Amino acid sequence: MNNDGIIIIEDNSTMRLGIEETLRRDGYNAISFDDGTAALNHFIKHPAELAIIDLKMEPMNGIEVLKKIKGISSQTEVLMISAYGTVEDAVKAMHLGAADFMTKPFSPDELRIRVKNIFEKIHSTKKIETLIEQNKLLESELTEGFEEIIGKSEAIQKIFALIEQISQKESTILITGESGTGKELIARAIHNKSNRREHPFIKINCGALNDNLLESELFGHEKGAFTGAIKQKKGRFELADKGTLFLDEIGDVSSGMQVRLLRAIQEGEFERVGGEQTIKTNVRIIAATNKKLDKLIAEGKFREDLYYRLSVIPVTIPSLRERKEDIPILVDHFLNKSSVKNRTRKKNIDEAGLNQLKEYAWPGNIRELENLIERLTVISEGELINSELINRHLFGQSVNVNVGDNLPLEAALYNFEKGLIVQAMKKSDGAKNRAAKILGISTSVLYYKLEKYGLM
Ligand SMILES: Nc1ncnc2c1ncn2[C@@H]1O[C@H](COP(=O)(O)OP(=O)(O)OP(=O)(O)O)[C@@H](O)[C@H]1O
Ligand SMILES: [Mg+2]
Repeated sequence: MNNDGIIIIEDNSTMRLGIEETLRRDGYNAISFDDGTAALNHFIKHPAELAIIDLKMEPMNGIEVLKKIKGISSQTEVLMISAYGTVEDAVKAMHLGAADFMTKPFSPDELRIRVKNIFEKIHSTKKIETLIEQNKLLESELTEGFEEIIGKSEAIQKIFALIEQISQKESTILITGESGTGKELIARAIHNKSNRREHPFIKINCGALNDNLLESELFGHEKGAFTGAIKQKKGRFELADKGTLFLDEIGDVSSGMQVRLLRAIQEGEFERVGGEQTIKTNVRIIAATNKKLDKLIAEGKFREDLYYRLSVIPVTIPSLRERKEDIPILVDHFLNKSSVKNRTRKKNIDEAGLNQLKEYAWPGNIRELENLIERLTVISEGELINSELINRHLFGQSVNVNVGDNLPLEAALYNFEKGLIVQAMKKSDGAKNRAAKILGISTSVLYYKLEKYGLM
C-alpha cells in the first residue's frame, strides 16, 4: 500500500464500495462514508489528499461537503461524481476548488485514470514545495551569512583565533554570552569557515516555539501525525544534513525536549513525529544561549548530560562592557552601514558624543549600539552627531523628559518607553515574564519592544 489517502463520500452503497474496492486494489489508502457528517468527523482527524464526493446526497449535499473539506484542508483535492451531472453543477464544483468532475456511470478503469492524474499533480506540487522551502531557507542564510565581524580588543581577538582553530573540527560548540553580543554572527562565521560551508546552515530558535511545534520543526512529521499534518514535512535536522544546525536559545528548551535532542545529537538519528522509520543525519551542532546554563543545571532545569554533550567546545563571548575599546570601531562600522542602508552621506560623531558611548553600560550589547547608530543617522539633521543628541537617545534611562528639553514628541516618547522597559528589566533581573508583569503588558509585546529598542 502506498501512503496516498482517499476519502470517499457516496450515499449509494454499491457505488461507494465499488469505488473503495477499486482504489484499494491499486494500493491507495481508501476509506468510505455514506454521509457527509460522519465523513467530516473522520476527515478532521485524518485528512486525506483526495476526496471523492457524490453531488446528490441527503441531508448534506455534495457541494456543502466539498466546501467543508476545503475549509478543513485547502490542499486536499476533490473529485466530484454525479449521475445527473449538469454543466452548471460541474462549473460550480470547479469554482469551489474541485479538481475534476465525473459523470456516472463510469468504468473502474476510467476512475483509475482520473485518480492517477490527480495524484500526479499532487506529487509534483509537493516536490516543488519542498524545493521552494529549502531554497527559501538557503537564500536567507546566504544573504545573512557574510556579515563582517568587527573587533580589535584582546577579548574578541581571542575569539577570532578560537574560530580559526575550531571551524574545521566536527565537535559540537556551545556559544554563550549576553543578548546582542554576536552569538549568531559567530555561529555563521564558524560554518562559513568549515568544510561544511557548501552545505546548509540551518537555524532554529528553540525559545520561540512550544514543544509540539519545536518537535515537528526539528524532526519533521509524517502525514497524519496530528490534525493539520496533511503532508509529510522534513525537520531541520534533515534539512541541515551535511551542514550545520544552529540551535539558538537552547537554554529555553523543556526537559522533555532535552531528552529527544540529546538522543538526536548523540546518535545522529531520530524519527519524524508520527513516524517509525529511523532517519540518520550528519549535522554539526552549534548551540547558543544567553542563559547561565550552570545555574539552570543547579536548579534542575537543564540536563547535565546534554550540557556536556553540547559544550564540547565552549565559546564565551564577552559583553560590550568588557571590551569598551571596540566601541569606536564598531560605531564607525555601523555609521557606514546605516548610511549605505539609508542612502545618506556618512555621518560622524563628535568627541564628547563618542566618550558618552564609551561610558554607557550597553545592556543590549552590540545590537543596542547598532540600533542606536541607525536611529541617530536617521534623525540627526547635520552631518555631525553631537553629544546632546546622543544623551537624549541613550539616557531614555532617565525617565524624566521635560518640554523644555526641546525634544520632538516622538523622540521623547521613545526615550520614555525605552527607559521604563530598561528599568523593569533591571528590576526583574532580566526575567522577561516578570518584567512584562511589572509593565502590565504581555510577554510577547515585551519581546517586540525589546527588539525595537535593541535590548534583546
Ligand atoms: N563583532 C561584531 N561586529 C559587527 N557586528 C556585530 C558584531 N557582533 C554583533 N554584531 C551585530 O549585532 C547584532 C546582534 O548580533 P547577534 O544576533 O549575532 O547577537 P546574539 O548574541 O545572537 O543575540 P541574542 O542573544 O539576542 O540572540 C547583529 O546585527 C550583528 O550583525
Ligand atoms: Mg541570537
